[in-house]
Amino acid sequence: MAPVHASKTKSPFTKSDNLLFDPALIPASIQESLPAGYVVRPLARSDNQVRSNSSFLKTLEVLTTVGTISDDAFQRRFQYLKEHSDQYYTIVIEDMNVPPTSAGSATSSSPSLVTPGRGKIVAAGTVLAERKFIHELGMVGHIEDIAVSADQQGKKLGLRIIETLKAIGQQVGCYKVILDCSEKNVPFYEKCGFERKGVEMGWYV
Ligand code: ACO
Repeated sequence: MAPVHASKTKSPFTKSDNLLFDPALIPASIQESLPAGYVVRPLARSDNQVRSNSSFLKTLEVLTTVGTISDDAFQRRFQYLKEHSDQYYTIVIEDMNVPPTSAGSATSSSPSLVTPGRGKIVAAGTVLAERKFIHELGMVGHIEDIAVSADQQGKKLGLRIIETLKAIGQQVGCYKVILDCSEKNVPFYEKCGFERKGVEMGWYV
């Protein structure tokens, strides 16, 4: 894979128990390429608690049915991912231009740091690092569940999500990053640097 060019600018986030993984894995150069007021960060434990129209789960609804997930169930799933945080890398893009509400008005003591959940989540995606025996215990990154809110599509947020996930996959040691998609999304993934390989097969229970 082509090298990721790290930027000298610091990430606006620091490693914390609230975040799924260390935000230092997200290249600052991608953060800098987002529209003003938008930030890219790891999924946060609190991302199910912000106002109902802007949660992570709401964002996933452009993909498929999400269903009713209680906060307790969300927390248990987040905790599982956190305990396997060298495997699951879920990221979100948050639009911080949205005025804070009482549900998400916490501020940071440092102006250079940003509090997750203050704005509105507008995009999400995951790369899963699979550990293999082949290729000398190689690792393969699987990109899953890419979603950009319907009213935010066309602003290159999907592209930035994919660039971030590719960079994370590369940094954690994956020798390739792959994904399955519908025919209509092929041109988007080609713009993101992917090419057709093989055929997807499925078996539904
Ligand atoms: N057909 C052709 N070109 C496209 C398409 C498309 N369907 N979608 C985006 N592009 C192009 C854009 O025009 C742009 O090209 P440019 O650089 O020449 O201007 C480039 O791809 C980047 O587009 P973005 O603005 O980053 O795309 P967006 O933010 O709208 O995200 C996405 C694209 C993720 C497909 C979004 O439309 C979406 O969430 N769709 C619904 C859910 C979905 O289908 N998710 C993908 C499932 S597959 C998976 O999860 C592995």
